[in-house]
Amino acid sequence: MDLSSIVAILVRWTHITCAVILIGGAITAAFLARQGRLKGPVWTPTQIIPLLVAIFGAGIYNLMARVPGAPPGYHAILGIKFLLVMHIGAVLILSANAAMDDAKRARLLTGASFSGLVVIFLSAVLRSL
Ligand code: HEM
Repeated sequence: MDLSSIVAILVRWTHITCAVILIGGAITAAFLARQGRLKGPVWTPTQIIPLLVAIFGAGIYNLMARVPGAPPGYHAILGIKFLLVMHIGAVLILSANAAMDDAKRARLLTGASFSGLVVIFLSAVLRSL
């Protein structure tokens, strides 16, 4: 196995692991918040921002690897995924604000959870193109 394969595996692991933590965390937090069992934020911006930076960096690497010869439609789907990722990132950072009302946090986390499921679906579509 050459060095570029090892880097590709590590980058893929980073991307998938961050996705599991961010989207899995958002879904769990949304369930707890909707049941009224979540008081205040689950995470701080300093816990969320490094994960967002890591998933973004690994995403750019994936993109550089796929862009040469990307089929028609690839960029359009990636653009939609990117907008949803921006929504998720913004909500996760906002939901770390302790001053936010718990009902509003529950609504925002529910929206981010659905966006996360759509992002994972779009990623599966991108992979199959
Ligand atoms: C909440 C954030 C994100 C989630 C949940 C997410 C999720 C995923 C998942 C599950 C995969 C499939 C992994 C695999 O099979 O190897 C993937 C692949 C990919 N992601 Fe992300 N991602 C996110 C953010 C980003 C960002 C910010 C970018 C771009 C800057 C990006 C670009 C890509 C690319 C290019 C691929 C490869 C698609 C292909 O196989 O052609 N992702 N992502």
